[in-house]
Amino acid sequence: MVKIAPSILAADFGLLAEEIKAAERAGADLIHLDIMDGHFVPNLSFGAGVAKISKKATSLPHDAHLMVTDPEHHIEAFAKLGLEIISFHIEIDGKKEEWERGWVYHAKKVANVDRIARLIERIRELGSKPGLVVNPPTDVDLTFPFLKDIDLLLLMSVNPGFAGQKFISNVYDKIKHADRFRRQNKLRFEIMVDGGVGLDNANALSEAGADILVAGSSFFGATNYGEFIRAIKS
Ligand code: DX5
Ligand code: ZN
Repeated sequence: MVKIAPSILAADFGLLAEEIKAAERAGADLIHLDIMDGHFVPNLSFGAGVAKISKKATSLPHDAHLMVTDPEHHIEAFAKLGLEIISFHIEIDGKKEEWERGWVYHAKKVANVDRIARLIERIRELGSKPGLVVNPPTDVDLTFPFLKDIDLLLLMSVNPGFAGQKFISNVYDKIKHADRFRRQNKLRFEIMVDGGVGLDNANALSEAGADILVAGSSFFGATNYGEFIRAIKS
């Protein structure tokens, strides 16, 4: 059954610990932490202080989604908190591209293979599971050489930076492509989809091969969190 990871970016920060406990009671599988540096994405969110609050509020596992230009400077702080999964973007050496009214980082190739490999290794050394994230304009194939070394492939279905954006459907082909590669190579990483996920697309995403769905606005905007999880999993 598909797993649900509420993104606390869309929670009521005035009641953060209560919101996280409510997500656990509702049947969430893990807590998704969106870490933004205002440089890799056009927004700032929060850092290890908030991650600590979340860790204290629940015994659920956490995944930290690092939307930062220099993961080297941040992974240790999150690993020290015992966060189960730490993911960073394959586009860290990519280029900023204009898009509609904003911008997004895009990679046409992996400019620094050693850097990606070192970060994956470092996350594991620090005791967390490494994940790689792919932005909507980037080809998922760029991650294939690293998939044997990671536990999570996080496919973005919005350009990262904000909760509540419209779902970008090119993620379906990426899920299928990565799932095929996973089966052919007998790999075990999980596929997570992030951005604009809700009751309208959850089934199709899971059928395409997604194992974990991030839900920000759809989860924290629901009147009953438990009913939302039951509905999205059915
Ligand atoms: C986008 C973040 C997402 C976001 C999801 O930058 O990575 O995790 O908070 O929020 P929704 O589900 O509202 O698109
Ligand atoms: Zn995210």
